[in-house]
Amino acid sequence: MSKQFDVIVIGGGPGGYIAAIRAAQLGFNVACIDEWKNAKGGPALGGTCTNVGCIPSKALLQSSEHFEHAGHGFADHGINVSGLSLDIGKMLARKDQVVKQNNDGITYLFKKNKIASFHGRGSFVKAAEGGYEIKVAGAAEETIVGKHIILATGSNARALPGAPFDEENILSNDGALRVGAVPKKLALIGSGVIGLEMGSVWRRLGAEVTVLEALPTFLGAVDEQIAKEAKKAFDKQGLKIELGVKVGEIKSGKKGVSIAWTNAKGEAQVLDVDKLIVSIGRVPNTIGLNPEAVGLALDERGAINVDGECKTNLPNVWAIGDVVRGPMLAHKAEEEGVAVAERIAGQHGHVNFNTIPWVIYTHPEIAWVGQTEQQLKAEGRAYKAGTFPFLANGRARALGDTTGMVKFLADATTDEILGVHMVGPQVSELISEAVVAMEFKASAEDIARICHAHPSLSEATKEAALAVDKRTLNF
Ligand code: FAD
Ligand code: NAI
Repeated sequence: MSKQFDVIVIGGGPGGYIAAIRAAQLGFNVACIDEWKNAKGGPALGGTCTNVGCIPSKALLQSSEHFEHAGHGFADHGINVSGLSLDIGKMLARKDQVVKQNNDGITYLFKKNKIASFHGRGSFVKAAEGGYEIKVAGAAEETIVGKHIILATGSNARALPGAPFDEENILSNDGALRVGAVPKKLALIGSGVIGLEMGSVWRRLGAEVTVLEALPTFLGAVDEQIAKEAKKAFDKQGLKIELGVKVGEIKSGKKGVSIAWTNAKGEAQVLDVDKLIVSIGRVPNTIGLNPEAVGLALDERGAINVDGECKTNLPNVWAIGDVVRGPMLAHKAEEEGVAVAERIAGQHGHVNFNTIPWVIYTHPEIAWVGQTEQQLKAEGRAYKAGTFPFLANGRARALGDTTGMVKFLADATTDEILGVHMVGPQVSELISEAVVAMEFKASAEDIARICHAHPSLSEATKEAALAVDKRTLNF
């Protein structure tokens, strides 16, 4: 007889593994099926995020930032470096080690929470007595049955038509994280989150980087004032970003990649590079899930159709993370995983989509939560804005990192915080205060009246909140 579980999670990325842990904490008998393979063909829990996403990209961003500081930043502090050199092999090996520590951490957590871990591809067989029959195709093949199924199968990189990923010349996020030698010339298509983060890594390590973006505006989803400030900084660093382009034929050969493109003025151009990273968004992944077997409904984008509570069209089948609507972010997937496990237990799990923070880990970093100024204008909402530049912050000066600002948007009448936008040093950490404030429906004045440590970057947050009422103290 097939093994029976209260909950089977398919996908061991941040959505799936967190859902499995929360379900186990709530007393359920839980299995998690994940097919990711490490270099040796063994399991590597953590999905895109751990293996080829959040974690390795941040490891390389950190290493490349150290390299850039040593080469260009230390001299200002009176530290002279000579004989600086790059061991890219060691840098990549360190990144792989960081990934492995995270894989191992999840394996440990599964053991601690008594979660049955299956390595292989999970697919629907049929609705069965007591739930759904799921085939696990790994080294061996077996069938297990789950009363509740949580689908967390993530997403894959979108390829450009006519330019499939070969991970040698034309790279997805996977290949982009393991280029064995710094390319002399690198192109990225798409100046979204991956384009900017991976473009930054390879530029800092010495590549000449060009980013080709179809849209005429830079980072359209980001508050315009913040996006402009970030663009200025990237231009100064020498990250060449071409907006409003049309990409034409792409030829890949022994010498690299040749990209035909048209610039915003309509002029035909050709860009010859050693490597091309295509970062034009991601597609939900339902490959191999066999949704037809049980009549699981997908939407027109191929995402699994869910309601506001992550319920699919099938009873007791739930879906979370990148494979459903909403932002493709690890913490969004995690929150949905927790909420679904709690709903299965009859509790009232909840995800507040209005307070999901975004962070782009470039230098300067970009972070935001809530609505942008352009969104509030489009809505016709009366608002007040307050900004404070890092240039006027003592800690930022001491760090030698004064680019950027913090910006608050608050309701004109109630002063409730509607959005907080940041570009500057360590704003990936500073944004949390804004998330907490918005979650508690704080007013800008609430933040302005809270004591912030001196000297700290967080004082820029307080000052931007004060600026909403036009009473900054240090600017
Ligand atoms: P995934 O992490 O994609 O995991 C899905 C898992 O399911 C995979 O292991 C897959 O192998 C497995 N699977 C799929 N189908 C099956 C099947 N049928 N059977 C068994 N297993 C299956 N987000 C952030 O919040 N912060 C960041 O800094 C960040 N950086 C990123 C950098 C890059 C380069 C990329 C590509 C993404 C980044 N993201 C970041 C996005 C983040 O990685 C995703 O939002 C997140 O991984 C989604 O989690 P998930 O659990 O839905 O899916
Ligand atoms: P993205 O959606 O962030 O950016 C894609 C960009 O490509 C857009 O600006 C789009 O206009 C452009 N584009 C699309 N088609 C094009 C074409 N044919 N020619 C030129 N430009 C084109 O997607 P990206 O960067 O691939 O990342 C995917 C997702 O992964 C992100 O949306 C995000 O959810 C997640 N991610 C999150 C990170 C973070 O939180 N720090 C880091 C990296 C990825």
